[in-house]
Amino acid sequence: MEVFVMNRDQIICPCLDITAGQIMDAYKEGAKSVEAIKEVTGAGTACGACLDEIEELIQSL
Ligand code: FES
Repeated sequence: MEVFVMNRDQIICPCLDITAGQIMDAYKEGAKSVEAIKEVTGAGTACGACLDEIEELIQSL
């Protein structure tokens, strides 16, 4: 199985220019669900195409 490594600078949500690092930080500060991440960072609130990736990312934290 591949180890899930995410570069902090990788853009997860191109619509709002949200990076993996921003999502990781939001998670650390208590946004433990996709809904919470959306609220805190704005990621996933436009087209929604990145929602699966956000889910995957927070599952890996
Ligand atoms: S890529 Fe995140 S809302 Fe469009």
